[in-house]
Amino acid sequence: STHLITELFQNKATPGSIVTVKGWVRSRRDSKAGISFLHIHDGSCFDSIQAVLPNTLANYEEELLKLSAGCSVIVTGELVESPGKGQSFEIQGQSVEVIGWVDDPETYPIAKKRHTFEYLRTVAHLRPRTNAFGAVTRVRTALANAIHRYFHERHFHWINTPILTASDCEGAGELFRVSTLDMVNLPKNETGAIDFAEDFFGQETFLTVSGQLNVESYCLAMSRVYTFGPTFRAENSNTSRHLAEFWMVEPEIAFANLHDNADLAEDFLKYLFKAVLNERIDDMTFFTDRINPDAISRMQHVVDKPFERLDYTKAIEILQACPQKFEYPVEWGIDLQSEHERYLAEKHVGAPVIIMNYPKEIKAFYMRLNDDNKTVAAMDVLAPGIGEIIGGSQREERLGVLDARMGDMDHKEALWWYRDLRRYGTVPHAGFGLGFERLLNYITGMENIRDAIPFPRTPKSAHF
Ligand code: 4AD
Ligand code: MG
Repeated sequence: STHLITELFQNKATPGSIVTVKGWVRSRRDSKAGISFLHIHDGSCFDSIQAVLPNTLANYEEELLKLSAGCSVIVTGELVESPGKGQSFEIQGQSVEVIGWVDDPETYPIAKKRHTFEYLRTVAHLRPRTNAFGAVTRVRTALANAIHRYFHERHFHWINTPILTASDCEGAGELFRVSTLDMVNLPKNETGAIDFAEDFFGQETFLTVSGQLNVESYCLAMSRVYTFGPTFRAENSNTSRHLAEFWMVEPEIAFANLHDNADLAEDFLKYLFKAVLNERIDDMTFFTDRINPDAISRMQHVVDKPFERLDYTKAIEILQACPQKFEYPVEWGIDLQSEHERYLAEKHVGAPVIIMNYPKEIKAFYMRLNDDNKTVAAMDVLAPGIGEIIGGSQREERLGVLDARMGDMDHKEALWWYRDLRRYGTVPHAGFGLGFERLLNYITGMENIRDAIPFPRTPKSAHF
């Protein structure tokens, strides 16, 4: 019967039975005794399976001795316990059908040697065949499933918020414009400005930077909700932590304050880490061996220890008192830069840390104003090696205060519906956004966010 390789390693077939696997050749080695060893992978687990091919097979000389990395094959044979160490099973080949040859093995872009991740980005259509990207992809899948499972078990509803939107949730002006207008002959109104009345939606429209505003409206009806989908930012920062298109998880909870929000973030991250350790220890072992020796141990540490929580004001004091020199000077009121965030998470705490209550001037309009009138009930979760992986807040539920915070903002009128939520049965509520690829980088130890998503979109690069 036909099996995925992972099923064979999970004892889904009895030794002695005849099995078929379908996959791609990772390597071929020939012994002097007229036996060839083929390693085949199919993406289902980290390990490839070894097929032992005797020269008595009909197409041995003609075809099998020409197999190279990347060829696709269907192998049938007897499943036997492997005498070699490391591998529990192998297949005593009885037939090998070659499905697809590799045109020119010499120039196959993913030959067996190790490649740099930079190079692999130039062959993003083939990189899922490598060990590293197979592992990233499986951990990504396990994480996504654990995210839905976590919320489902706790009675959260998954809200599919729109990708096309007229509002700039974060107010940072990092929007991609979406338009059906003729870019060459843009329609203009009397004042010479672009006439969006002629555009598809009759107004200026963008790709969403966050589903938060929409998900708040469902929160104030369904109590516990979340979004999980793609978000877009035209942030021109060419860093290892920014993508123009990334996935974000945004839970929102009613009758909740900032500490409830931090509790949720901590419990959620611990659940996800446990799930990955349970389900993908094969891939995590690879990341530990090849990418970051602490990959597994630091996950265990995150699961076992309570997260430290620090007020922004306290964090500033720590940064000012510490021996490290920063490029960007530290004073109360600054937005924490990546170097500051990493110092706090890596040197000061050595684990994820939650920074709370930031100055209102550097945070978005929807964050709840604290009694000191200087700070808002915001929180960021900072992770060693990455910096911010979560940004969230308690929301301003008081219409008067919200209006004052929106003040001169253009979109106050456009957000009439958001203001309505404060007029009809408003309640304290809170939520956060977790950057899915940043979390994946943190877990795997992969350094560049371009390697945490199948097809990265970054400035000047939207290939594949
Ligand atoms: O801190 P941010 O901007 O928060 C929001 O968008 C809120 N509306 C979320 C909420 O409260 N519901 O973004 C949240 C997270 C960041 O902490 C970061 O992990 C990730 O999204 N993120 C990015 N990830 C990759 N590339 C980018 N350009 C990112 N910008 C933010
Ligand atoms: Mg943020």
